[in-house]
Amino acid sequence: MGQYFDNEKLKSELNIFKTRILDREYSFYTDNGVFSKNKLDFGTRTLLESIDINEIHGKVLDVGCGYGVIDIILSKVTNASFEGIDVNLRALHLASRNAKLNNVSNVKFYESNVYKNVKSKYNFIITNPPIRAGKSVVYDIVMNARFHLEENGILYIVIRKEQGAKSMLRDLQNYYKTEVINKNKGFFVIKCILH
Ligand SMILES: C[S@@+](CC[C@H](N)C(=O)[O-])C[C@H]1O[C@@H](n2cnc3c(N)ncnc32)[C@H](O)[C@@H]1O
Repeated sequence: MGQYFDNEKLKSELNIFKTRILDREYSFYTDNGVFSKNKLDFGTRTLLESIDINEIHGKVLDVGCGYGVIDIILSKVTNASFEGIDVNLRALHLASRNAKLNNVSNVKFYESNVYKNVKSKYNFIITNPPIRAGKSVVYDIVMNARFHLEENGILYIVIRKEQGAKSMLRDLQNYYKTEVINKNKGFFVIKCILH
C-alpha cells in the first residue's frame, strides 16, 4: 500500500468539508492521497486548541503542512506570517486553493523535503509530523528545527503516545526545554523552547 504522500497515480476525487475551530468556520478542499481527507485531524485539532494563540507572532513555519489547515486557521486568529512546506504536491496545490477559499493572504506554501528548501528562520515551527514517513524523517523535522528557529524560538509538536511521544520527549530534551502542554486521548502536545 502506498504512503499518503506517494500519490501521483491516485485518481483525483476532490472533496470539501467544513469545520469549526477557535470560534470560526472554515472550509477545506481535500483529495485522495492527502492526510485526513474527510475531516480536520483530531491530533491537529488538539494541537491548535492547545497552543496559546496570543503568543504567536512574527514568522511561522508549518512542516508537513498537508492541505494547509494549521497555517490557514492560525493566520485568521493571529497577525503572524506563515509558510507551509510538504513533499506532497497534491496537498500543496490544495493548500493554496484553501488559502483563497478561506480569504487568507499571509501564507505561502512550497515544496520542501524537510528543511531542504527552507532559507529563513522562524519565531515558531509547528508540526503534526509524518509518522508514516519513518522515524528518521520525523526526527529530522523535530530535532533539526533548532537550526531554523530564531533566538527564543518555539517548536510545537503533536504526537500520539503509541507513536513514541515519551521517547521523543526524552530525546528533545537534549536540545530544548520541553513541556507537555496537553494530553488528549493519547495525543501529546509538546512545546519546545531553544536552550
Ligand atoms: C500528519 S500529516 C499533517 C498534515 C497537516 N499539517 C495536518 O495537520 O492536517 C504530515 C504531512 O507531512 C508530509 N510529509 C511527509 N514526508 C515529508 C517530508 N520529508 N518533508 C516534508 N513533509 C513531509 C506529508 O505529506 C503530510 O502532509
